[in-house]
Amino acid sequence: MSRNLFRPSFGTYPHLMVGRDQLIDEFEDTFDGILDPAGLTILVSGQRGMGKTVLLDSIRRAADTAGWLVITESSSNGLLARLTRDHLPRLLQLHSDTSPTRLGSANGTIGPLAGGASWTERYPAESTLRSQITELTDALQPSGRGLVITVDEVQSADIEDLRKLGEIIQYGRREERLLGFAAAGLSTPIEELLDHPGATFLRRAEHHPIGRVGRTDVRAALAGTVADSGYEIDVHALDVAADAVDGYPFMIQLVGYHSLKAHKTPGPVTIADVTAGIAAARRRLGRHVHTPALRPLSNVDRTYLLAMAQDDGPSRTGKIAERMDVTPQYAGEYRRRLIRDGIIEAAGHGLVRFTIPYTAEHLRQHAAHDALDGLADENG
Ligand SMILES: Nc1ncnc2c1ncn2[C@@H]1O[C@H](COP(=O)(O)OP(=O)(O)OP(=O)(O)O)[C@@H](O)[C@H]1O
Ligand SMILES: [Mg+2]
Repeated sequence: MSRNLFRPSFGTYPHLMVGRDQLIDEFEDTFDGILDPAGLTILVSGQRGMGKTVLLDSIRRAADTAGWLVITESSSNGLLARLTRDHLPRLLQLHSDTSPTRLGSANGTIGPLAGGASWTERYPAESTLRSQITELTDALQPSGRGLVITVDEVQSADIEDLRKLGEIIQYGRREERLLGFAAAGLSTPIEELLDHPGATFLRRAEHHPIGRVGRTDVRAALAGTVADSGYEIDVHALDVAADAVDGYPFMIQLVGYHSLKAHKTPGPVTIADVTAGIAAARRRLGRHVHTPALRPLSNVDRTYLLAMAQDDGPSRTGKIAERMDVTPQYAGEYRRRLIRDGIIEAAGHGLVRFTIPYTAEHLRQHAAHDALDGLADENG
């Protein structure tokens, strides 16, 4: 029986996770107590499709395996309320001996479970959150286990929620509680968030900006997933596929998935299958990654990127300034911003390249489109 095990959708854990071994080992060692887990705060940032969400998921898995409790959340509105009204009362009921009534009377109000919302209505969310977390981590402590809260898309969090959560994480750290926090988000907004006074605690986090993975890893993921799917692949076809992925994690899944889908003949997956797969993968990449990543950029940012897009490989920064007809200093400002935003990255001395593969092709294609649109407008 053969089935396609590639997972070309955001947030879905890959059949084979590659290129993140060192980080994942670190997570495992932390929850196993080899590294100190007290006050663990992790921040993962990167461009779309680099694998931030699945990396958060590996933190959850490592914690889970070690018996820790995990709360998995995203940053949509009401994060704090969901923690204090839903997640924590549920975990407390399962893991703490203190009955809700006792808990409630100690605070002079009705417990969270017995009294529904009254607990959170009478007390500010912050003190509720703190007492719930204190109680839960106290209850877990004797068994050497703790609690981890993971928050995806942290750039969209309500800053006030984050500030409150941060304060509690910091108390936890001071009191050496087994309380961990791991968050993930897009490069640019994360950098902005780190500058915000409400997110001070994130500046103390272990920050892991994640990028592309090596070719050997890409090849291993493709070959392994194809084999586990019940197919064989021609070795040259595998090389063509690995080259096309260009180290970009989302593309591993896209190229693999569409190559198997294109494979209709008996025998191994061929170069023709892979070529068709790559074309389909690139179309999806344009729609789901390039278009949204480039949309928020200013016109000058775009001009810089278009000047870069004339090259097939990395671009010389001097050459870009020349093409833009500006001073190297002026171009340098944009270069710094675009690097900070994760759109481009340094590629050796005086060289830059696009962070996500095929950005140049996408820009060239759309510049041509836009120009044609312009002509159509003029003529129409
Ligand atoms: N290390 C990896 N090895 C193999 N596949 C991966 C790896 N990391 C991510 N992927 C795959 O890439 C795709 C994107 O992963 P994920 O959703 O985690 O990206 P993301 O960085 O969270 O993107 P976004 O910014 O859109 O939220 C998924 O299909 C996932 O299975
Ligand atoms: Mg994600």
